[in-house]
Amino acid sequence: MANVVVVGAQWGDEGKGKIVDWLSERADVIARFQGGHNAGHTLVIDGKVYKLHVLPSGVVRGGKLSVIGNGVVLDPWHLVKEIASVREQGVDISKETLMIAENTPLILPIHGELDRAREEAASAGTKIGTTGRGIGPAYEDKVGRRSVRVADLADEATLAARVDRALLHHNALRKGLGMEPVDRDALIAQLKEIAPSVLEFAAPVWKVLNEKRKAGKRILFEGAQGALLDIDFGTYPFVTSSNVIAGQAATGVGIGPGSIDYVLGIVKAYTTRVGEGPFPTELHDEDGQRLGERGHEFGTTTGRKRRCGWFDAALVRQTCATSGITGISLTKLDVLDGFETLKICVGYELDGKQLDYLPTAADEQARCTPIYEEMPGWSESTEGARSWNDLPANAIKYVKRVEELIECPVALLSTSPEREDTILVTDPFAD
Ligand code: GDP
Ligand code: IMO
Ligand code: MG
Repeated sequence: MANVVVVGAQWGDEGKGKIVDWLSERADVIARFQGGHNAGHTLVIDGKVYKLHVLPSGVVRGGKLSVIGNGVVLDPWHLVKEIASVREQGVDISKETLMIAENTPLILPIHGELDRAREEAASAGTKIGTTGRGIGPAYEDKVGRRSVRVADLADEATLAARVDRALLHHNALRKGLGMEPVDRDALIAQLKEIAPSVLEFAAPVWKVLNEKRKAGKRILFEGAQGALLDIDFGTYPFVTSSNVIAGQAATGVGIGPGSIDYVLGIVKAYTTRVGEGPFPTELHDEDGQRLGERGHEFGTTTGRKRRCGWFDAALVRQTCATSGITGISLTKLDVLDGFETLKICVGYELDGKQLDYLPTAADEQARCTPIYEEMPGWSESTEGARSWNDLPANAIKYVKRVEELIECPVALLSTSPEREDTILVTDPFAD
């Protein structure tokens, strides 16, 4: 297979970074196609930890082309900081190894301010629990046709006109929220100052990727967030502001949907969520605490404690469908070591009826109670296992049951944060 899309199949933090890094050995190009620096992707290579937010996880391997596609919203000041921080870790970043689409919308300081002001103003129960990075407001400006985009940084007159267009909207909004109007000249000066650091990497990504594709190069698409945070198919409004599902990979860089050969869904062996919103299998007991402690479930971007719960097969079956997932990578199996009994949600009960999917209406979601199936756990350690033979029989039974329930095969299994602690079942890049 030439082109593989990696997407999160739950509420994010499934271990996409580790798997993208692992798979990137087989790829020529690694491309981000949505989201921004709300993402936090962790890679552990020979004990060294890399935390990436907007840079594709392929940057850590030398000799690959990393791409930030137009579907991303880019904070140029954050970009410069992240590049500096990974360079300090010895990663080589140059025009040859990083390309940013010219039509990528920028996240400006006004977006972060608005994001945080709205969250502060929201009453309990209506807060989204965003990362505060300005993601939502930046995407709003994109569809509102008032973004400043990467290409606009190259020309002073265009830049000023784009800023004025955005401020017409933002100053009115800020007035309503009791915020100071934006200092236009200072914002333009800030953008002019940062412009060369971004323009250095700017390129017509759609063209480069189409040429790569024709030349038979392999493209690995790196999703951020997870399908349950998708703007259309997630637990709206407690979602992020972009399409996260695999269909976005094509529009997020400018290739045709027929160029996608394999969709790999990243699935944690249990469930976590950071931020607000429904979570049917959430645990508030010792088991939940144990999952959080064993899985080190703290956000990579905000450091917030992640909510933890049992594996929800009904939800993952749903996300396998909406993303057209070919195979999954099951991660963090080792975190389940030592549980006497494991529970898997197989559907929901709503007003006396059984459902095999989570309904869309918020009031119905709130009334849904999970239907659980129990499985025996295992006392042996799976941490660091690199082959099926290293797994205890009950762990294999658990994986097989997950496959049956979600109606999708396991292609990869991950048993620790380390790059090489990965079991390959089916190579997504194999023809
Ligand atoms: P992402 O946002 O999907 O890339 O995931 P994050 O990096 O935010 O969170 C996943 C966390 O789990 C990171 O700290 C990874 O190092 C870690 N991780 C990934 N795979 C495994 C695994 O198989 N076992 C364990 N114990 N940790 C893992
Ligand atoms: P990765 O790529 C987990 C969540 C936030 C919040 C909601 C909206 O590391 O899996 P936003 O700032 O996007 O407007 O916040 O989405 N969220 C994530 N949760 N992993 C992520 O990324 C996330 N990116 C956003 O916590 O609930
Ligand atoms: Mg993350």
